[in-house]
Formats: sequence, C-alpha cells, structure tokens
Amino acid sequence: MRIRAAVLEEFGAPLRVQEVDLAEPRAGEALVRLAACGVCHTDLYTASGADPSGYAPTVLGHEGAGVVERVGEGVTDVAPGDHVVTLFSPQCRECEHCRDHRTNLCLAIREQQNLGYLPDGTTRLSREGDPIRHFMGTSTFAEYTVMPEIALAKIDAAAPLDRACLFACGLSTGLGAAINTAKVAAGSTCVVFGAGMVGLGAVAGCRLQGAERIVCVDLSEQRLELARGQGATDTLVGGPETVNEIAELTGGFGADYTFEATGSVRVMQQAVESARMGWGLATICGVAGKGETLAIIPRFLITGRRVAGSSFGGVKGRDQVPQFVERYLAGEIDVDPFISHTLTLEEVNHGFELMKAQDGIRSVIEFA
Ligand SMILES: NC(=O)c1ccc[n+]([C@@H]2O[C@H](COP(=O)([O-])OP(=O)(O)OC[C@H]3O[C@@H](n4cnc5c(N)ncnc54)[C@H](O)[C@@H]3O)[C@@H](O)[C@H]2O)c1
Ligand SMILES: [Zn+2]
Ligand SMILES: [Zn+2]
Repeated sequence: MRIRAAVLEEFGAPLRVQEVDLAEPRAGEALVRLAACGVCHTDLYTASGADPSGYAPTVLGHEGAGVVERVGEGVTDVAPGDHVVTLFSPQCRECEHCRDHRTNLCLAIREQQNLGYLPDGTTRLSREGDPIRHFMGTSTFAEYTVMPEIALAKIDAAAPLDRACLFACGLSTGLGAAINTAKVAAGSTCVVFGAGMVGLGAVAGCRLQGAERIVCVDLSEQRLELARGQGATDTLVGGPETVNEIAELTGGFGADYTFEATGSVRVMQQAVESARMGWGLATICGVAGKGETLAIIPRFLITGRRVAGSSFGGVKGRDQVPQFVERYLAGEIDVDPFISHTLTLEEVNHGFELMKAQDGIRSVIEFA
C-alpha cells in the first residue's frame, strides 16, 4: 500500500514527508494504522546525525498509538480493531531476559531492530523498490506501520490515542524508573533532576508510590510549575549548589531516592551525591553524549549509596503499558498538561523546532 511518511533522507536536513510503499505484515507482524505519535528527542538526535548508530533513509517516529488493521500468520496476541501503543522496547515473553523479573531488555529482536530491519532481516518500507529502514522497530511518523506483534501493547479502547501515545516512551520511562527500577517506598523522600517528559513521569511515579516528599530540580520555572502539578512538593532551580541545597532540605542527609532525567553527566553526579548515605539509590535515566563518563567518588558508594540505570523505566511493555493506561483512565495520571502542541504529519519539522526551543513538553502528531 502507499502511505504518507516522514523520511529522514540525510542527517542534519529536515525530514521529507512523502508517499512510500508499505508491504503487508508477514508472520508474527501486524499492520497498524497510526492515530497519534509524539515527537521525541531521540527522533531529533537521530535526524541530526549525532547518533553514531543512526542510518538513512529511514522513517522516524517511535511514540505511536493506533489501531491494528491486519495481522500476519501466527499472530495471536493482537487482532484487527485492537488499540495499541508501539514499543521500541519489545517483550517476547520467552527469552532469558523476558522470563526474569529483573530486566525488561528483551533479547528477541535486538540485533535486527538496531540495524533498522524487522525480525526476519528485511524491511516492509520501500520506495521504487529500494528498501527504507525501520527506525527503533517502530517508524511511526507515518499513516501506517508494520511491526512485530511482540512490540505492540494492547490497551483499553476507551483511552484517547492522542494521550495514550505518550506511554510509548518518556512518560512510561519516568513512571517505571520510580515504580520498577527504584521501587520507591511509601513515605520516602525523592529528588528528580529534570522536568521534561521523563522527569515529570518520574515525579508522577514517586507520587503514585506514596512518596512523602518529592523535590524536582530543573532550570525552567515553567517546567517546575508542571512538576508541582504532577505532585512535586518542593522545587529548585538547578545549579552548582544543588547538592548542598538538597542536603539542607533533607536534614543534612540527602534523599532516599534520586532520579536523573537530563542526559547531563554533571547532573548524574549530583543525583549520586544527593542520595542519602546508608541506602540512597540514584537512578539514571538520561542518555549521555558519546564518550562521556560519569564521575563518582568511591566514598559515596562505600557509605551506602547505590546507582542504577533504567531503560524504558524497566517497563515490560506488553504487560505494563496497558496497566499504566488503566491508571491514566482511573484518573491517577494527569497526561493532558504534557501535550503542548498538536501537529499534522506535514508539520513534523516544526515539532523538532518546538522541541529545540523547549516550547512545551510534547508535540503530538495526529493523523486524520
Ligand atoms: N532511559 C530511557 O529509556 C530513556 C527514554 C527516553 C528518554 N531518555 C533520556 O532521558 C533524558 C530526558 O528526556 P526528556 O525527554 O525528559 O528531555 P527534556 O530535554 O525534555 O528534559 C530535560 C530537562 O532537564 C533539564 N535540565 C538541564 N540541565 C539541568 C540541570 N543542570 N539541572 C536540572 N535540570 C536540568 C532541562 O531544563 C529539561 O527540562 C534525555 O537524556 C533522554 O535522552 C531516556
Ligand atoms: Zn522517545
Ligand atoms: Zn524477550
């Protein structure tokens, strides 16, 4: 079929929205009609050419939500008409990692996905017979996509898809960092560095876990206001004195749990240093620049602090994304304040501009 899609042709150049060909789903795959898709830093990172593992041409986009149209042979978990959220982090339920509760890093299709192919090593996307690679196994800046069944989370059809799409990436990452990775205990004190989509999700996750005190640190007053809306009890403008300021706020000791959601290694260091001696846990969500390293004075570790990393918030997507969506429908997660702009696919490059200008948390592309 012919579909409209936003193609990254050349690093550093705007995406070109055009018609491309999409082949029918093969065994284990489903054809999804996209209803909405968030625009995320990772799309921009790849488009800019900064990501060393990037490739072109490819159809970008990974924060999709839509409706299953057709399924390939052997597909049992989704059926036409099902509402789904796309998962760049799949869950096969069979590999060593899927069967272990300690990780969400499914091993089933990693290699092919990282190269831009579907699990059988080919693409469904093409143009005049030349393959176009799939981005993050999702390629959701498009009217339709073909994806493996194991990378689709079936959600309650009552959830508006232009809200549900945020659970495809940043929001679930933040929620999961607090709920799965840190397992924040009720009554505890938390600090979240960064109030973008991931950090705000972490604030909401700490609140859902029953944290008593949630300090959010960001450079933008506007974003700190959003953090208060998600449950932050205290806010701080970040700077070189932040670790001391947090110590003052927490009786000199630091927080039970800290979260880093900025991508800055300097802030990661602050997150480690503001975790409490004895048992403080620093959870790192941000993606640092190529070659950067995180400096930790070993004394911080010997005195009982721990550091954890979190990819997609440790969320096993097919199981847990539907649960998050249920909690949203139950009124426990306030998604609306995250959506600042609604765009058409044609306006995708404007979405990148808004993101560069830190204008709002998320622009969402809606498909007619
Ligand atoms: N681990 C994962 O699976 C995963 C998933 C999605 C995104 N990420 C990463 O998480 C990070 C955050 O993503 P996002 O979409 O929320 O980004 P974002 O750019 O919207 O938010 C980052 C925030 O950090 C703030 N910040 C910058 N410097 C700061 C400082 N010194 N002190 C305090 N705050 C500071 C900025 O003002 C901004 O609000 C990025 O590095 C992103 O690549 C990771
Ligand atoms: Zn994303
Ligand atoms: Zn797996």
